[in-house]
Amino acid sequence: MANAPREQWSSRTGFVLAAVGSAVGLGNMWRFSYLTAEHGGAAFVILYLGVTLLVGLPVLLAELTVGRGSQRSPIAALRHYGGRAWTPLGVVFVAAGFLILAYYGVIAGWTLRYGMMAIFGGYAGAADHFEEIAQGPDAFAFHLVFMAITIGIVAGGVKAGIERTATLLMPLLFLMVAGLAVHAALLPGAEEGYAYYLDTDFSGFFSREVLTQAAGQAFFSLSLGMGAMMTYASYLGRDQNLPTGSVVIAGADVAIAFLAGLVVFPMIFALGLSAKVGSSTVGALFITLPEAFAGMGGVGRVVGLIFFAMLAVGALTSAISLLEVVVSAAIDSLGWGRRRAALLAGGAITLLGAPAAWSLGALDVMDQVANNIFLLGGGLVLSLFVGWRMQDPVGEAGAGAEGVRWFFLWRALLRFVVPAVLLYVLIDAVPGTLRAVLALITA
Ligand code: TRP
Repeated sequence: MANAPREQWSSRTGFVLAAVGSAVGLGNMWRFSYLTAEHGGAAFVILYLGVTLLVGLPVLLAELTVGRGSQRSPIAALRHYGGRAWTPLGVVFVAAGFLILAYYGVIAGWTLRYGMMAIFGGYAGAADHFEEIAQGPDAFAFHLVFMAITIGIVAGGVKAGIERTATLLMPLLFLMVAGLAVHAALLPGAEEGYAYYLDTDFSGFFSREVLTQAAGQAFFSLSLGMGAMMTYASYLGRDQNLPTGSVVIAGADVAIAFLAGLVVFPMIFALGLSAKVGSSTVGALFITLPEAFAGMGGVGRVVGLIFFAMLAVGALTSAISLLEVVVSAAIDSLGWGRRRAALLAGGAITLLGAPAAWSLGALDVMDQVANNIFLLGGGLVLSLFVGWRMQDPVGEAGAGAEGVRWFFLWRALLRFVVPAVLLYVLIDAVPGTLRAVLALITA
């Protein structure tokens, strides 16, 4: 393997912004608020916080530890600490990157299209045409545009491409979310939206189904279970404090998800569209909100533009991290140059997005397979790896974090709690997901 000096982030802030950029995306702004409303409001938020703290955070620190310690992309990193037997897990991570980015790029393409609607013609009638907008050659074309931008940035490298984009866009994204939350708060009728979002119903609190949703959401939102955070940490020096980094990343991710809910629900309820909220998973964002924007007149076009620009920005910094997993693996394992890797891997992923661009059903199944099988399964095996197989994870995690006293707790969570929770939800989620795949194929 060639030993060109490995690329590095130029600063700690650059790394944190890139990692937060990976975490904050469509998952926060749409999936989180929708799931919260469906599964008991504040009760789901509490459960989600618990899962993030006890399962998400330990796995995040595990990924950062393996990446930074090995200074390698996931396939090589796992082999470095575990020997050849662990190579397949790295390969599964790369496959997950292919699968997730393929449909993620399609949804991101919708956000570009809905953003442009603000400029060309406005949102009147858009709600009724969601299915046509979301499926077909146009949907593929916008996916293509989005993927081209993603490929261009990843080809630019860790510092000049990924870090620069995150440093530029993440503060902007935060301003957009905060500004929209203030705007939403001032709408008459906003209280009803808050009530729907945060009204507590503890009835389904401990069901396996809700726990599965909360765990899947925690993994998806924190970009865990497929080596994305591992890859980003591999460009980090040993003097950096990983525990602090992981807490900052998870905190920012949860905060933005919560804020996004404070944007979405008041807007929907202020316009009296509440009946439509529960009708479809994609509904809240791409059907109900455009209708809300149409109802606001000229202001709605400005708000809509900001809203979909925010989504597109979040999607872009997340897509970059997904592609980087595949690209870094091709660079390390195949010896390819970065540009070539970005172009070929990105091109293949774009094509793999075709089924999702032509069929909402296929997109939904790809999302289920990615979450319920790849991410939760990847997280399970990874927690076992770092908890039981890796030689000295506490020593690796502790470099640059002298004085941190809770590593024993971290290790105990990785060894017992994380595998137990993930096994519990996987037993239920895997058969259900496979049935969904079968139903799609035989349909
Ligand atoms: N976390 C991103 C979101 O919430 C999506 C994402 C980026 C992701 N990289 C990932 C999900 C890696 C799983 C794995 O939208």
